[in-house]
Amino acid sequence: MATLRFWTTTAKTDAIAVLALPAGGLTQEGHKLDRKHRGEISRRRREDAFLVKRQASSLLYSRNAKIILAAFPEKDSRTVELREAAYSAIRIAQKHAIQRITIAFDPQNEAEVQAIGEGSLLATYSYSRFKSQKTDRGREVRTIYIRSSELKTAPLKKAKVFTDATMFVRDLVNDPPNLMNPESLSEVAKDAAVQNALNLRVFETAQLLEMGANAFLSVGMGSIVPCRMIHAAYEPQMPARTHVCLVGKGVTFDSGGLSLKSEKGMEHMKSDMAGAAIALACVKAASELKLPVKVTALLMATENMPDSGANRPGDVVRAMNGKTIEITNTDAEGRLALADGLVYAQSLKPDYLIDIATLTGAQVVALGRLVAAAMGNNEAFIQQLVEAGKRSGEMLWPLPLPDHYRDLIKSDIADMKNSSGIPDAGSIQGGLFLSEFVNHPRWVHLDIAGPSFQDREWSVHQRNATGFGARCLLTFLDSL
Ligand code: BES
Ligand code: ZN
Ligand code: ZN
Repeated sequence: MATLRFWTTTAKTDAIAVLALPAGGLTQEGHKLDRKHRGEISRRRREDAFLVKRQASSLLYSRNAKIILAAFPEKDSRTVELREAAYSAIRIAQKHAIQRITIAFDPQNEAEVQAIGEGSLLATYSYSRFKSQKTDRGREVRTIYIRSSELKTAPLKKAKVFTDATMFVRDLVNDPPNLMNPESLSEVAKDAAVQNALNLRVFETAQLLEMGANAFLSVGMGSIVPCRMIHAAYEPQMPARTHVCLVGKGVTFDSGGLSLKSEKGMEHMKSDMAGAAIALACVKAASELKLPVKVTALLMATENMPDSGANRPGDVVRAMNGKTIEITNTDAEGRLALADGLVYAQSLKPDYLIDIATLTGAQVVALGRLVAAAMGNNEAFIQQLVEAGKRSGEMLWPLPLPDHYRDLIKSDIADMKNSSGIPDAGSIQGGLFLSEFVNHPRWVHLDIAGPSFQDREWSVHQRNATGFGARCLLTFLDSL
């Protein structure tokens, strides 16, 4: 990955990126450069109406200097714009095999420095583990200099740790499901625990049975690889200000089980462990940033397969809190895994409880691929996360949990069923199901089914695994 530095007069770079404002004007730094290059930049910017209209970025030469005119997309907030402009500048640099680049823009505060850093670094991600030929031209950017009058290293460090977390999630989600299963995920957690001095406990079948985690265990019974509940925690050296527990859906492959999914898009179901990957990434990052809060991750790692031990539609299981669930659809497995995860999480007495999951196709229908759904029992807490989403460029939007809809998941023979068979408000039904396992004043459920995986590039939210959610949660943790 490229290194981020502040630009100094001694730094030699191969190109300069000018962030151009949407109206066609240049920023202050851009004007300085423009004067140096005798108006060449503004001339090109004016002439290139196409560029202005499409807000595309391009490379131009002036007196032997390579200058990248980077689009400054008009978005919801300045930090989102800067992150995306820096991203597009680095993308162009990669195309032209530029190694050292200066971003000529004077950020006004630490958040802007961080956003430029994140956008730049996120552009350098690629997943090439299984490419025999690693000649990935266009990924050659090594050093990125940011021009800034504000030379504090904290935002650069944050940009690095936040993007490392995003990329950690991307790697785990992109890994193929024959290699990334509950067992290998626990190995990844063990490595992270050693590297980041985390407390780690891995619960296997026998212990989970003893604890009564039957809903969770039932999901993995159709797979040759047994379930694991991975408990990884970071604790600051000074007594922690507060304790946040993150419960992540870690379905390493979701075939649907006996309620088998159709082949259309089933290969994307390796992404069904994004929530677990995010939880682990956040604990790691909290340790790297030495945050003053305790962060616990619970990874509910399992594989939903249709072998003979698998859940049958019609089965009834008893969850850890004693409630019984009729399994009407084996493809609604995430909520079974999370139910026990949430019950166990509450025994750790956290101040904030968050679960994060690729839970429903209905979330994609409701909010698409750039906005995740947030549900919960505490409006102020939901709002805190929505704000963190805005700042990180990972947008969340609240959905209500109306009590009347609880009727939908009533079962004739058990306390509830895991699927109503009625498609209306599918994400809310998922949230209501989970709420049956929550007896805690501050709980939020994040459904990231759409944003976790893309089939196209939306700027920093790249094709395939996006890592969406990690930077939002880190922004929240960092604000406590
Ligand atoms: N993992 C899926 C949800 C999903 C869908 C994630 C699309 C990412 C993209 C989940 O386990 C699932 O299959 N949910 C069912 C629930 C239904 C049976 C109540 C769904 O959404 O169809
Ligand atoms: Zn499913
Ligand atoms: Zn699933």
